[in-house]
Amino acid sequence: MSTTVVVGVQWGDEGKGKFVDILAHDADIVVRFQGGHNAGHTLVVGDERTVLHLIPSGVLNPGKICVIGNGVVVDPAVLVDELAALRARGYLTDDGCLKISDEAHLILPYHKAIDLARERLRGRGEIGTTGRGIGPAYEDKVARTGIRIVDLLDEAVFEEKLERNIREKNQYLKAILQEEALDFGAIHDAFSAHAERIRPYVTDTALYLHREIEAGRRVLFEGAQGTMLDVDHGTYPYVTSSNCVAGAVAAGSGIGAGVVKRVIGICKAYTTRVGNGPFPTEELGEIGARLRETGDEFGATTGRPRRCGWFDAVLVRQAARLNGLTGIALTKLDVLTGLDPLRICTAYRADGERFERVPASMRLLGAAVPEYEELPGWTEPLSGVRRLEDLPANARRYVARLEELSGTPFTMISVGARREETIVLG
Ligand code: GDP
Ligand code: IMO
Ligand code: MG
Repeated sequence: MSTTVVVGVQWGDEGKGKFVDILAHDADIVVRFQGGHNAGHTLVVGDERTVLHLIPSGVLNPGKICVIGNGVVVDPAVLVDELAALRARGYLTDDGCLKISDEAHLILPYHKAIDLARERLRGRGEIGTTGRGIGPAYEDKVARTGIRIVDLLDEAVFEEKLERNIREKNQYLKAILQEEALDFGAIHDAFSAHAERIRPYVTDTALYLHREIEAGRRVLFEGAQGTMLDVDHGTYPYVTSSNCVAGAVAAGSGIGAGVVKRVIGICKAYTTRVGNGPFPTEELGEIGARLRETGDEFGATTGRPRRCGWFDAVLVRQAARLNGLTGIALTKLDVLTGLDPLRICTAYRADGERFERVPASMRLLGAAVPEYEELPGWTEPLSGVRRLEDLPANARRYVARLEELSGTPFTMISVGARREETIVLG
């Protein structure tokens, strides 16, 4: 049985899309199990760059089945657009290649309006969300007022639930958030049209996955966001509204807890974060700007510049433990060419205490001063390297030290955005 989950180790954008695309080569089915179109996963195949927000990153591999699991929150307008754009390029032309859970919850226009209005009212204390309505949609799911895909496909049920929700949300939008009310008719008609577009793909994906796994099919689960954005284990409240750790696979796709055999963490050779919240190794000066330029660190979803800093081994070790990582794929090593010395954070100091774990208190993490060790850099470009032994000696030393500190075997090293710019280890 081959079941693998790919998760982000840091604050998202580690290069999950690239590795899901590569690993999908050896899988039959690729599944998203949490998050929504806050995700932006970039794949570079040949000269073509594809950014996916909802549809699993296995889609560019012909013949793979893509599944959107029950744990995902779905904006049907985004799904329909992404699907149409892929089909126009010759992908997903067979309806059987996409399956959408009937239990997945919808993102509705009021979720987006609430997300944006709350951020505006928070002012300087804003989370820096992607403004996609993710948090409010998960809130409704947990509050048991959400509308699921199965409801969308049943006209009478959809109408009743939408009517009730819009009445309530409009009061909240007007009275509390000082926003305009939304129009029931417009939303109803647009969503009814989306319903017909997605109907052919909707099914009981948990049952489908169960049967396929029983039949020995190879399944790859594609995480979105990253461990430090997990709603339980991340830097709360500066997190997303879902569980992003590997443990979320079972609930978010309806498979048994013991099914996953391999957990691959995708981890950048330095650290980035988009949005607000503590970031102990952030570099606000020249080094941060250099990483952002060389690494092209601009959000794949919102285009925002990403905050950049040194590799944080405290955070990566914690992520290895929280996810039960069996391997790490290290990405963007090429971006470090020309930086000398390189710094690695091995612990934090805050309130006179030394931390080898990420403290739960955001006051402490915000005050954390990293303890760094320094390693010599290298000047050679790395994007042409395909074997570990062909890396410059100092790059090998840097990678070996990261591997040692993270306590997890490195299985792949990425030296460029393209599929082939990859070193496979072992
Ligand atoms: P994801 O959200 O984890 O899938 O990552 P994103 O796609 O948001 O961001 C990663 C960015 O880095 C994308 O633009 C990728 O094309 C790019 N990328 C991935 N791996 C590498 C690498 O090894 N080197 C370089 N230079 N870019 C990479
Ligand atoms: P991928 O899958 C990086 C961040 C937002 C914000 C916080 C909450 O591409 O790695 P939300 O809209 O989810 O309520 O925003 O989470 N965030 C991401 N950062 N990569 C992502 O996805 C992200 N998805 C959400 O910037 O700080
Ligand atoms: Mg991304």
